[in-house]
Amino acid sequence: MEEIRRPDNMVRITTPELAQAFVEEQVAAARAQIGDGRVLLALSGGVDSSVVAAILIKAVGKQLTCVHVNHGLLRKGEPEQVIRVFRDEMNADLIYVDAVDRFLDKLAGVTDPEQKRMIIGGTFIDVFAEEARKLDGIRFLAQGTIWPDILESEAGIKAHHNAGGLPEDMQQFELVEPVRILYKDEVRLVGKALGLPDNMVYRQPFPGPGLGVRCPGAITRDRLEAVRESDAILREEFEKEGLAGKVWQYFTVVPDFRSTGITDGKRTFEWPCIIRAINTTDVTEVTVEHLRPEFMDHLVERIIREVPGINRVLYDFTPKPPATVEYE
Ligand code: XMP
Repeated sequence: MEEIRRPDNMVRITTPELAQAFVEEQVAAARAQIGDGRVLLALSGGVDSSVVAAILIKAVGKQLTCVHVNHGLLRKGEPEQVIRVFRDEMNADLIYVDAVDRFLDKLAGVTDPEQKRMIIGGTFIDVFAEEARKLDGIRFLAQGTIWPDILESEAGIKAHHNAGGLPEDMQQFELVEPVRILYKDEVRLVGKALGLPDNMVYRQPFPGPGLGVRCPGAITRDRLEAVRESDAILREEFEKEGLAGKVWQYFTVVPDFRSTGITDGKRTFEWPCIIRAINTTDVTEVTVEHLRPEFMDHLVERIIREVPGINRVLYDFTPKPPATVEYE
């Protein structure tokens, strides 16, 4: 039976000192659990798996192997940052898998949102399992499971990402879950204590299927690139505007239709780019962030000028309900 209460003596981590003490405790616990064994981690670059990686690098160094799968639906600069932080700076054993073509080829022509999610999730597991099979003597599987995942799976809301989705021959791995008793804000403080960069620690939520759900309908490489470029501009501008740590989630969507425009006296026929910026405490209800009109003008100007294929920029003013956060 899974323990569904945080330990009674668990102090809420609210200060850098408590975060540091937690790190030391978990490093010792991981060493005791792993001994001289080998451990594998799927490292997405999100805060949870990054914190787990940093704890285990401290605990067991090269006995940890991280696998970073680039499925082609990551944000601009993300794979490069994972390699820089973990391989170059922390000296981790990191396997980078460029699976972009494999994912995008499988997704070609697929329009149904749930089918897209299934292809992305299923292919991810296939790629990760293939990498695991190339390695000898792995006994442990590390995961960035956090406390809300456990509560949600207990309440039947969602199955938290665990070994259950993995093929039979990987099911016998023993799990290592150093942040499983933490809430998100605590994970972030622990990430700070471990010296991870702020843009990794204070990262906004990002869905597993990545930019795939922001390229509605059948994903094409050119439209996906328009999503990635406009997202990068939005993130850079929100940073400059001082909104990066304040707004819960902000992103762009490029839907699969075109409209007429005019540039330098010539007719264009291109996609619109939709901006969405929302606030929430628990994502069941969200409100829309209202931006300064001059800031909006600036966003429109940059996106139109810099992103190929876009001739119109729209702002989504719809709260949840009735709209969900993502478009698929
Ligand atoms: P919705 O669109 O359901 O989004 O209002 C609520 C929050 O969940 C994120 N989201 C996902 N996260 N896999 C994820 O890991 C998914 O398939 C997924 N779909 C939505 C969304 O970004 C928002 O923060």
